[in-house]
Amino acid sequence: MPVTFDVQPSPSARTDAEVAEILADPGFGRFFTDHMVSITWTKGQGWHSPKVVPYGPLSLDPSAAVLHYGQEIFEGMKAYRHEDGSVWLFRPERNGERFRTSAARMMLPDLPVDLFVQAVRELVTIDARYVPEAAGEHSLYIRPFMIASEAFLGVRAAEEVTFLVIASPVGPYFAEGVKGVDIWVTDKWARAGVGGTGAAKCGGNYAASLIAQYEGYEHGCTQVMFIEAAEKDRVEELGGMNVFLISADGQLVTPALTGTILDGITRDSILAVGEQLGLTPVERRLSAQEFLDGIAEGTFVEAFCCGTAAVISPISGFKSERGEWRLKGQDFATTVRIRDAVLDIQYGRTPDRFDWLQRVV
Ligand code: PLP
Ligand code: COI
Repeated sequence: MPVTFDVQPSPSARTDAEVAEILADPGFGRFFTDHMVSITWTKGQGWHSPKVVPYGPLSLDPSAAVLHYGQEIFEGMKAYRHEDGSVWLFRPERNGERFRTSAARMMLPDLPVDLFVQAVRELVTIDARYVPEAAGEHSLYIRPFMIASEAFLGVRAAEEVTFLVIASPVGPYFAEGVKGVDIWVTDKWARAGVGGTGAAKCGGNYAASLIAQYEGYEHGCTQVMFIEAAEKDRVEELGGMNVFLISADGQLVTPALTGTILDGITRDSILAVGEQLGLTPVERRLSAQEFLDGIAEGTFVEAFCCGTAAVISPISGFKSERGEWRLKGQDFATTVRIRDAVLDIQYGRTPDRFDWLQRVV
């Protein structure tokens, strides 16, 4: 049953000319739309007070648990404008399901998938003029998140929680575009471990990844690839993306979901699309040794990273304290084929065979 949101239109919404100026060069995550969604959860009462309100600063008590213990989760998804002007979401229920999984891990309340999707639809509908034209792979990035807003310093699950959705028109995540990025393989830092929060999309994972990412920057790399913490052998994922290898014999290989990495929706979609393109999808354990030796020996000819923000970005090479490994396939031919196939679905340029799209406007 759809819930009725109390809609309070922004009195200071941007003019169409101001929106057009933002959409001409949105960058990534710099500008936000006129509104945001908020729903409150209180122990004993459940979810209540669903609202669409003007975008603006939150009023949080300085003792709010999220500010001290990081009890927070988020999602990342996009709305795409098709050629005919219509606006679509891509597999939004998958984000809603993952949000539930993240909430369970972080002792946050369960938000039904229907309500999650409805909240996203409310925001995209009211701020639809911020969904850019498809040119240059622009889209509206949507950020649902949940925070422990209760004012209380004891360490326990918060009894008052706020769910919010904000949105930002965006262009490409990487300044390099589809030119190929270098990835730093860190031997020193771990992002998550067995039993930890790696499979949850919680803010702390990203805070923990920053030190390694900055180490990567020092070596000219844009992202960092993490190796499993305990045995220091199994390849996991990048700071904010999943990773794939393409073998010379047409295998599309990605680390299996082990509970320490994020179950990426782009990753899952690529496995399905790749198979359609004649590749063999393989989810398995990949040791760092096999991964890097395979690149050096030419077993793996291409590599790419993927996620909602980054879409699918070809990787030119990997670097670590121990050396450098360049991919043979520097034309990224297969990566580009997969990338185009996924984007063609998202932007409605090809039939939606998997039934992944959901129309909003
Ligand atoms: N891994 C991490 C750590 C991420 O932050 C993301 C981005 O959301 C992904 C993988 C890719 O997930 P998705 O394709 O669902 O965006
Ligand atoms: C996404 O791809 O949606 C992400 O969350 C990655 C990053 C922007 C945190």
